[in-house]
Amino acid sequence: MYRIKNKNAFIKNLNTWYQESARALPWRETPSLYKTVVSEFMLQQTQVSTVLPYFDRWLKRFPDFETLAQAEEEHVVKHWEGLGYYTRARNLHKLAKHLSSLETIPTDAKSWQSFPGIGPYTSAAITSITFSTPEAVVDGNVIRILARLMGVETTFKDNTSAFKVFKPEAQALINQENPGDHNQAMMELGATVCHRQKPLCLLCPVNKLCKAYAQGKPEAYPKLAPRKTTQVTIDRVFILEEDQLLLHRTPSKAKRLANMCELPKAEDLKIKVSEKTKRLSKKRGISNQRISEHIHTPKLNKTAQSRIKESDELFWTHKNDLNTLTLSGPHKRWILELLG
Ligand code: ADE
Repeated sequence: MYRIKNKNAFIKNLNTWYQESARALPWRETPSLYKTVVSEFMLQQTQVSTVLPYFDRWLKRFPDFETLAQAEEEHVVKHWEGLGYYTRARNLHKLAKHLSSLETIPTDAKSWQSFPGIGPYTSAAITSITFSTPEAVVDGNVIRILARLMGVETTFKDNTSAFKVFKPEAQALINQENPGDHNQAMMELGATVCHRQKPLCLLCPVNKLCKAYAQGKPEAYPKLAPRKTTQVTIDRVFILEEDQLLLHRTPSKAKRLANMCELPKAEDLKIKVSEKTKRLSKKRGISNQRISEHIHTPKLNKTAQSRIKESDELFWTHKNDLNTLTLSGPHKRWILELLG
């Protein structure tokens, strides 16, 4: 354990700063278990600014656990359209059904971790914010704050190994009287002050306690081994014939993107593509993959068109009916861009 010298000053300064400077976020006004759960699911792997419009829309359509539990999965996923990582929507739906079946809702982080879609971070966030359970949240933001505060020189090979070291540190520093606000203050400090690059140390409420600040090199921490990434190239086709667009629907049993619609891959249709057929190129990252995606508009003659057989996965849809389908976020944007 690293231990900081002045734990009480850390807790007090952080709390005072949070009470004065916290952003007014819709799940923080008149908080409830439901709002906290929905916001924590949405905030997994997603920034606050992206979540805000979704959160408001979601609460209007599914105002409580009962309404959500009774909704069709299809509608639930449709409301998540564009937020990505759709397993979160399905798990949130399962969780609503599960909680509606319980007589009493547990308040400890361990029980919550056994629920659908809930890992150590989310269970700590939900139980501390809602039930004042003293369980510390640890994610990339918290690891960065603590590594700087304590000047931790260890190089971690990945987030999991860093988590193991920093969980007890974060737990030792928690404010037992107000763990919910303390955890949110840590999230807030990581998101608004203790940035990965160019942290705003002069505005930091705990800079006097911070080793990295004293050394004048906050950006040197945390020390993380570079992640191994793989490059992937995907060629897709945008085939629009008489206002009908060809789409691919991922099978419902698939782990990722179940039932979501996307532009089909050229190789699945055995369509030859080249530099000449390329219309759009996009880059994105999903976990450790760096994906280059090229969207082609090949001219198909009648024979090539007749070779395309509709199936459960492959189908034509009128361009005006796209809103009735659930499209993955990037694909929706690309299609709208190509439709002009
Ligand atoms: N990220 C995860 N949970 C959060 C919360 N409750 N407030 C702000 N950012 C968060």
